[in-house]
Amino acid sequence: MLHVAVVGSGPSGVYTAQNLVEQDPEVRVDVLDRLPCPYGLVRYGVAPDHEKIKSLQNSLRTVLEHERIRFLGNLHVGAGGVPTDRLRELYHAVVYCLGAATDRHLGIPGEDLPGSWSATEFVSWYSAHPDSTVEDFLPGARAAAVIGVGNVAVDVARMLARGVEELSPTDMPQAPLTALAAGKVTEIHMVGRRGPSQARFTTKELRELGTLPDTDVVVDERELALDPAYVDPSALPAPQRRNIEVLRGWAATPPRGAARQIRLRFFLRPVELLAEAGRVGAVRFERTLPDEQGDGVTGSGRYEDIEAQLVLRSVGYRGVPLEGLPFDPGTATVPHRAGRVLRDGAVSPGEYVAGWIKRGPTGVIGTNRPCAKETVASLLEDLPDLVRRDVPDDAFAALRADGLAPVDWAGWLAIERAEAELGASLGRNVVKLPDWQSLMAAAHRGPVSEAP
Ligand SMILES: Cc1cc2nc3c(=O)[nH]c(=O)nc-3n(C[C@H](O)[C@H](O)[C@H](O)COP(=O)(O)OP(=O)(O)OC[C@H]3O[C@@H](n4cnc5c(N)ncnc54)[C@H](O)[C@@H]3O)c2cc1C
Ligand SMILES: NC(=O)c1ccc[n+]([C@@H]2O[C@H](COP(=O)([O-])OP(=O)(O)OC[C@H]3O[C@@H](n4cnc5c(N)ncnc54)[C@H](OP(=O)(O)O)[C@@H]3O)[C@@H](O)[C@H]2O)c1
Repeated sequence: MLHVAVVGSGPSGVYTAQNLVEQDPEVRVDVLDRLPCPYGLVRYGVAPDHEKIKSLQNSLRTVLEHERIRFLGNLHVGAGGVPTDRLRELYHAVVYCLGAATDRHLGIPGEDLPGSWSATEFVSWYSAHPDSTVEDFLPGARAAAVIGVGNVAVDVARMLARGVEELSPTDMPQAPLTALAAGKVTEIHMVGRRGPSQARFTTKELRELGTLPDTDVVVDERELALDPAYVDPSALPAPQRRNIEVLRGWAATPPRGAARQIRLRFFLRPVELLAEAGRVGAVRFERTLPDEQGDGVTGSGRYEDIEAQLVLRSVGYRGVPLEGLPFDPGTATVPHRAGRVLRDGAVSPGEYVAGWIKRGPTGVIGTNRPCAKETVASLLEDLPDLVRRDVPDDAFAALRADGLAPVDWAGWLAIERAEAELGASLGRNVVKLPDWQSLMAAAHRGPVSEAP
């Protein structure tokens, strides 16, 4: 019988486990996660107001409840946790589905000023990621600059514009809910370094900005028109053409004088964050122009400062190296061939990757399905070699004997119950526990209280 460890319980890990049990009637799969909670970015990334997408957790749950799949949370693999070599002793094969946990850097002066944050940090805060220790992102901020024009940028801009009525039905913890509700940010600038036809957001997400209560979306037609593809979008693929149509509509609509403005800006490259009284006060951008050689831009030597007491750098995620696993720092992914991990260019028997750590940090939840399928096909092709080696019958017992204390499925269900109870006590629906202490207390059925 094949024993497989999947490291990471985000979409790629869960789809890997699902593919394995569907294709091999005997395989047993342990899905390990460093967190006591499953689902990766579906729980800790997808915006709380996107309840339909959040509900995908229900289908991931069905997979993790399969009789030959076991969830083992609170197990960090790598330095300070379970060494990768130990996993190789305990399982015939290990599939790493680690995601891409950190952010890309801009590499410009002032990037680390107080008030400048990565979108990753902001998302972790409002998603109640237990590693997030920030109390409030917004103190005193009137204007925010979101750098980047991908879907994460749209998420964080929208969350800044949401009011308490829209946020309190979500599972967001009380502290960010209170902070966002009390926040005074009325100007939100979302800024792309290239043109509207090169923006990475998708039309559905873009359009939603126009539905936010008491919020105007402001676009300057002259800035859009710097993009030749805006002037003549006929050659654009349909998704970009639809984005252009939405932006054109906003550019033609005079602002209604709403309480908040989301200003979509293009052809502005960030060059410096400027300080004011020891914190960020503005972002300096250089105007760029199409370089007429494809999708690139060139600097114009003209600059514009945009006032912002809060800066959210939303320029993409980045994979993190795991001790004991090869890593390509250029792409921040694990080198692989069809999901088989490569060490110095040669296949490393029994080691596989799927998801963002395999492909890089792009793609929606569904993109991880075919990605996991490819990896599982490689693994099952290798099966005769993999099962030649003896492994213990019960890796769980071996891990416990190593002194580790995994949170099992019952522990996770206890966390879910505690979150439902917390929500009821606050007169809300389910409310997430925001820190390690309360999660672990709940997993062990101890007393639960929300951190202040
Ligand atoms: C902010 C944000 C919002 C998004 N919103 C949407 C959306 O609305 N709709 C959509 O379709 N897509 C969305 N996406 C994209 C989607 O979330 C990703 O495609 C998907 O989560 C990638 O899956 P993954 O399994 O590779 O990584 P992840 O979901 O990140 O899962 C990785 C898992 O590995 C665990 N892990 C990492 N390191 C270790 C370790 N050393 N030991 C043990 N466990 C470890 C992590 O704790 C995590 O649970 C969003 C992405 C982001 C960043
Ligand atoms: N609702 C959803 O479906 C949803 C929600 C969130 C995330 N996601 C998915 O998750 C993935 C990650 O999203 P993401 O928004 O983090 O990444 P992304 O789509 O790659 O967008 C990154 C943005 O950052 C910009 N950027 C990169 N480096 C920059 C720099 N140095 N200076 C200025 N701008 C810079 C990019 O511009 P350039 O194009 O010029 O490089 C781009 O606009 C995507 O596939 C996304 O679709 C989906």
